[in-house]
Amino acid sequence: MSDHPTFVLKGGRVVDARGERLADVVVADGVVRAVGVDLSADRVLDASGCIVAPGLVDVHTHLREPGREEAETVETGARGAALGGYTAILAMPNTTPAIDSAAVVNQVLELGRTAPCDVYTSGAITVDRAGEQLAPMAEMAALGVRVFTDDGAGVQDNRLMRRAMEYATGLGVTLAQHCEDDALCGGGHMHEGEWSARLGIAGQPAEAEELMVMRDIALARLTGCRIHFQHLSTARSVAMVRDAVAAGLPVTAEATPHHFTLTHAECASYDPVFKVNPPLRTEADVAAVRAGLTDGTITAIATDHAPHTPESKELPFDQAPPGMLGLETALALALTELALPLPVLLGAMSWNPAKVAGVDDVHGRPVAEGEPANLCVIDPEITWTVRADAMASRSRNSPYEGRELKGRVRHTILAGEPVVIAGEPQR
Ligand code: DOR
Repeated sequence: MSDHPTFVLKGGRVVDARGERLADVVVADGVVRAVGVDLSADRVLDASGCIVAPGLVDVHTHLREPGREEAETVETGARGAALGGYTAILAMPNTTPAIDSAAVVNQVLELGRTAPCDVYTSGAITVDRAGEQLAPMAEMAALGVRVFTDDGAGVQDNRLMRRAMEYATGLGVTLAQHCEDDALCGGGHMHEGEWSARLGIAGQPAEAEELMVMRDIALARLTGCRIHFQHLSTARSVAMVRDAVAAGLPVTAEATPHHFTLTHAECASYDPVFKVNPPLRTEADVAAVRAGLTDGTITAIATDHAPHTPESKELPFDQAPPGMLGLETALALALTELALPLPVLLGAMSWNPAKVAGVDDVHGRPVAEGEPANLCVIDPEITWTVRADAMASRSRNSPYEGRELKGRVRHTILAGEPVVIAGEPQR
């Protein structure tokens, strides 16, 4: 129960999984109290010209705490998320120590309790994400962990991955995979192709991702395990997932904004801000990722928000760590760059990822009486310029610095509390 005063989101267009309608939305005691025309309350939050939608859900956020708090904390990451319209984020386990035990799961969940968005965590599939021994998934699942991944790395060993899938099936949880064959990628720092050859930077072939996508589809068929493919980046990966879904396998996939907006040609600047795993690919791959979002092969847009300190991103390209900020630009990039109908775009950023994360009882809900008030209010017409130093993140590694984007979050409501009002964080 929220102790925040009743308010009305006034003059907006509600868009949720049920469709679109012009309506005011009254929020009280943490829930949506009423949806309809000409509603009033003591307090009014202006939503005129705006879309009122379920809060966004990110299934792929690197928060860096514990261990690398100089790059991000749970609190700063969650604040950026709220500013980006997110009411729920799923933390990745590649922290120090890794999130591979009940103790570290509890630590992250505890840090998230006072954050301005709901912080959920994934757990590692293997101990220390080292790919050698299964992590104690059951003790993490008992704390509510619904997604397991070694993100930052893929599980290399076929037999171990099969065992993980069998174990996960018994627990009723989802495995998420960062598809990358280490042996093929070893020593590569960007996509292997025309630009890596020209720039003299060692590359990672598309096949390094595709082999693992192919293997995991085969293992999903063998075990019946739900598998979610993280940050799909190649045309053939998208095609394989399309076929797997058509064959009725329990497979889902996400795409990141950088993989549908940027190509490997960006690396010509030798600026490590464009270094990311999986790497930026070709124009044909970008087109295939967009087509996958359009035809529903890829059901989720995920940020892969990966903060790195300026010092580390100022290293030479081959020494800098991979990763890009994403939480505060994802929605605007999707609105600006994708010609998707709004319910499809918002489905990919809210109610579909809420299902992947297993939080669809609270997030991505229809905007309807009695539902939890996790909402975002988006001004789709406003244009703004990306400035990393204005972001909530402790890091500055946005590849979109200076880019003009259309569409921005005006208000974010978490469990009935306005945590962002008129683009300003309230806590
Ligand atoms: O670019 C990336 N950065 N890809 C990953 O998989 C990990 C991430 C990170 O943690 O920085």
